[in-house]
Amino acid sequence: MSRTVYLNGEYLPEEEAKVSVFDRGFLFADGVYEVTTVLDGKLIDFDGHAMRLSRSLNELEMKNPISKEDLLEVHRELVARNGIEDGLIYLQVTRGAADRDFAYPKDAEPTIVLFTQAKPGLSTSPQAEVGIKVIGIEDQRWGRRDIKTVQLLYPSMGKMMAKAAGCDDAWLVEDGFVTEGTSNNAYIVKDGVLITRHLGHEILHGITRAAVLRFAREAQMKVEERPFTLKEAQGADEAFITSASTFVMPVVEIDGAAIGTGKPGAVAARLREIYLEESRKAAV
Ligand code: PDD
Repeated sequence: MSRTVYLNGEYLPEEEAKVSVFDRGFLFADGVYEVTTVLDGKLIDFDGHAMRLSRSLNELEMKNPISKEDLLEVHRELVARNGIEDGLIYLQVTRGAADRDFAYPKDAEPTIVLFTQAKPGLSTSPQAEVGIKVIGIEDQRWGRRDIKTVQLLYPSMGKMMAKAAGCDDAWLVEDGFVTEGTSNNAYIVKDGVLITRHLGHEILHGITRAAVLRFAREAQMKVEERPFTLKEAQGADEAFITSASTFVMPVVEIDGAAIGTGKPGAVAARLREIYLEESRKAAV
């Protein structure tokens, strides 16, 4: 069945939603995006995603084509029109269509697109019971990973390298330290301490990361925001990733080395439980 998508102020059947071949998102990857989770028909962490969208647009001197109130309305309308119980809403804003030129155009109107992806049973993923396996690869992305741009080719390549190695995902390594996963933030747990890389230009400031660190601190866990190596991760008691679409997902193997017992750890399981419970309560 055809979905209803949102394009520049209109709700359209997906087949009728068309973007110009001159759109700078298509020609230059000159665009930013957000992915917001829907659970029980409600939005998880909408405010956080709307704030990060504004920040990404500001960093790229791009106009924000929509107010936060209208954006919430569009999200809710798409959830309703497409009957989404559990799933994702993808949002993309580009600088718009203009004659091809490296300099930003002065008068282009931004393009805004939103669509839904139904994911029945998203919060009860069987993968959370067994965990995922990751490989380490060199981080060859550009230097402003804190801006959520649509330049996702290297993360896609990383995912393919992981699949070729019989694994689920890759952790990216720069100057000897793990930055993050291809599309998620990376964590380890050692002697009860939760360790994840500090914020900066090197990683995306995950909305799920912020929530999980808050819940960990509220649960009196010690949190260290600092870089760690793959070797330190392989010697950890537990490892996991976070993102809007995976919540808290245990990592049980890194470059062939089992983490802890080789089974999902208790800290990751508990944080996943708290995250899902609290996010559901705060959903809008
Ligand atoms: N990815 N790091 C990167 C590089 C990401 O692409 C993402 C999100 C995250 C986690 O951010 P958040 O907790 O706000 O989802 C970290 C989304 C889910 C995606 O590209 O589909």
